[in-house]
Amino acid sequence: MRVLVTGAGGQLGRDLVDAFADHEVTGLTRADLDVRDEAAVTDAVAGLRPALVVNAAAWTDVDGCEADPDDAHRANALGPWWLARACARTGATLVTFSTDYVFGGTAPSGPDGAPRGWTEQDPTGPLGAYGRSKLAGEALVREALDAHHIVRTAWVSGARGRNFVRTMLRLADEGGPVRIVDDQIGSPTTTRDLAAAVRRLAVSGRYGTVHLVNEGRCSWHELAAAVFEAAGRTVDLAPQSTAEAARPAPRPAWSVLDTTHARALGLELPSWRDGLERLLDELGARTR
Ligand SMILES: NC(=O)c1ccc[n+]([C@@H]2O[C@H](COP(=O)([O-])OP(=O)(O)OC[C@H]3O[C@@H](n4cnc5c(N)ncnc54)[C@H](OP(=O)(O)O)[C@@H]3O)[C@@H](O)[C@H]2O)c1
Repeated sequence: MRVLVTGAGGQLGRDLVDAFADHEVTGLTRADLDVRDEAAVTDAVAGLRPALVVNAAAWTDVDGCEADPDDAHRANALGPWWLARACARTGATLVTFSTDYVFGGTAPSGPDGAPRGWTEQDPTGPLGAYGRSKLAGEALVREALDAHHIVRTAWVSGARGRNFVRTMLRLADEGGPVRIVDDQIGSPTTTRDLAAAVRRLAVSGRYGTVHLVNEGRCSWHELAAAVFEAAGRTVDLAPQSTAEAARPAPRPAWSVLDTTHARALGLELPSWRDGLERLLDELGARTR
C-alpha cells in the first residue's frame, strides 16, 4: 500500500514512518509540505497517489497557538481539511490526529459519581485556541471525507522530538529543583504504541473518531516521578498547582480519555507505565 505521512519530522510522524516501513511509505516534513498551503497539499496527494494519508502535521505549541489563533486555525483546521479534500478527490483514506484539549477541564462523572474518562460521544468545549483549532479540524475532516479516522490522543512522548519525558531527563541532568503540576490528570501515551495502533486502525475500515491512549491515568507530577524512578535519578521534585505554573494558555484539569471504543476495535494500548519503560529503554535511560 502506498502511504503518505505528513508532519514526518515530528515525534509521532517519525514513528509513523517506521510503523509503515513495510509499505511503500513517503514521509514529508514541514519543509517538504506545509499543510497550510492548499495547492501544495493538492499537488502532493495527486502526485503521490497514496491509498492512505496519515497526517501528523500540527502546530502543537499550545501557548504559541494562544498568541496566534489564526495561524493555529490554518495549520490545525485548514491543513487537515485540504488533506481530506485531496483524499476525497483521489479515493484515499485519511488518518488525522486530535487531542484531549478539545474537551473542557471538568471531569464527567460515571454512574458511581467518580470521574470517568471522556468518551467519543461526550460534548466538547475547548478552553483555548489550540483545542479550538483541532476541534475545527475534526469538523472539517468529517464534512469533507467519509473514509477518515480522527484519532484523539493525549500527553504524547517519543524517543525523538520535544516532549515531557525528554524534558524531565534533561532537567534531571541539570540538577536543579523541579516543580511539576499535580492538578492536571491525563493519559500519558508513547508514539511507538500509538503508531502501532494507528497502523492496525488504518486498514480496519472502521472509520470515525476514536480515542487512542495508553491505559491508565496520572498527573504530570506522577509522570515526572515515574520517569525519575525508572531512570534511577535522584531529583528535588515537588508539586505545583496549575495557577502557580501560570502558563499563557489554559490547560484542562481532566484530560483522561476513555478507551472503551478503541478496545472494542481490538486496539488496546499497554499501560502508560509499560509504555514509559520501553520509551526509556529506547532512550537508553532506564536503570530499573
Ligand atoms: N504532543 C502531544 O502531547 C499531543 C497531545 C494530543 C494530541 N497530539 C496531536 O498528535 C499529533 C502529532 O503531534 P506530535 O506530538 O508529533 O507533535 P510535534 O512533534 O510537534 O510534530 C508536529 C510536526 O508537524 C510539523 N508542522 C507544524 N506545522 C506544520 C505545517 N503547517 N505543515 C506541515 N507540518 C507542520 C512540525 O514541524 P516544526 O517542528 O518544524 O514546526 C512537526 O514536525 C498532532 O496532531 C497533535 O495535535 C499531540
